[in-house]
Amino acid sequence: MSKKHTILSGMRPTGQLHLGHLVGVLGNWVKFQDEYDCFFMVADWHALMSEYEKPSNIRENSIEIVKDWISCGIDPERSVIFIQSMVPEHLELSMVFSLLTPLGWLERCTTYKEQLRELKGRMLATYGFLGYPVLQTADIALYGAHKVPVGVDQLPHLELAREIIRRFHSLYKKEIFPEPEPILNKVSKLVGTDNRKMSKSYGNFIALADDAKVVEKKVRGMYTDPNRIRADIPGNVEGNPVFAYHDLFNPDKEEVDDFKKRYREGRIGDVEVKKSLARAINNYLDPIREKRGSLSDNDVHDILKDGAEKARRAAGKTMSKVKKCLHQMVD
Ligand code: TRP
Repeated sequence: MSKKHTILSGMRPTGQLHLGHLVGVLGNWVKFQDEYDCFFMVADWHALMSEYEKPSNIRENSIEIVKDWISCGIDPERSVIFIQSMVPEHLELSMVFSLLTPLGWLERCTTYKEQLRELKGRMLATYGFLGYPVLQTADIALYGAHKVPVGVDQLPHLELAREIIRRFHSLYKKEIFPEPEPILNKVSKLVGTDNRKMSKSYGNFIALADDAKVVEKKVRGMYTDPNRIRADIPGNVEGNPVFAYHDLFNPDKEEVDDFKKRYREGRIGDVEVKKSLARAINNYLDPIREKRGSLSDNDVHDILKDGAEKARRAAGKTMSKVKKCLHQMVD
């Protein structure tokens, strides 16, 4: 076995991945593969906790998200890529942790209270949803993950995970799990194409799976300086999403500087700036599209089958230790 530390992270399969994910989260995941043993999980049970009333997109979303990961550079040869529900040990360990997690810890969890308030039109006052962080703790502990890349919104869950793990250790007088630490995701500076926060519900993002034509159309419709109704009016570069995107995706810095200068002086039209931006984004996405195009659904199934086998091997070892602590039968 290698002595590298282990990373586990997951995403819920609730929709398309976009440029924000790529510059924020996925870029980091790709780099972690050099330094850590990585487990990347599609958290379909977690998605079902809020989508159980209408689960019809879960499987397709799961396949698509894995295609996105792989086409961005998550390497199934180096990392374990798997779907949570294909490794039943997650539910087993979640059950164990649910025995010893006080209700108060879960009821007080800020993310729980917030989601109950904010996710409208869904019945989330369920036993399963309350246990969301318990399952997340199982995800992490099952692979003895030391580090867990997450967004700030997930920090309360990481804190709970540490508490649940400590309680397990103190009850059974055996330290079998590392205390997991968060690695905070790089905050994506990318705003939505309409200058609001990039969000699935606003539909204001460029998806990794968008084709060149769709990218052109989205860029053409992008929010820009609203005061600039003619090309000869000096415009604002700061806080203008068109230039924020140029900064990130256009490798020709000279061109970008020239655009900015002329934009400020009212010597360039939006159309030219946007055309060049669409080209830059399309160039950026091309290798990702190519990789995506070379992956069939069958390839993805094979990768996920292999991933589930590897994950189950690791998970099974952990469950044997856990069952010993609980004086259960171990086969
Ligand atoms: N709750 C996480 C999110 O919504 C997804 C997730 C599930 C996860 N299990 C995990 C993240 C384990 C890190 C580790 O973003």
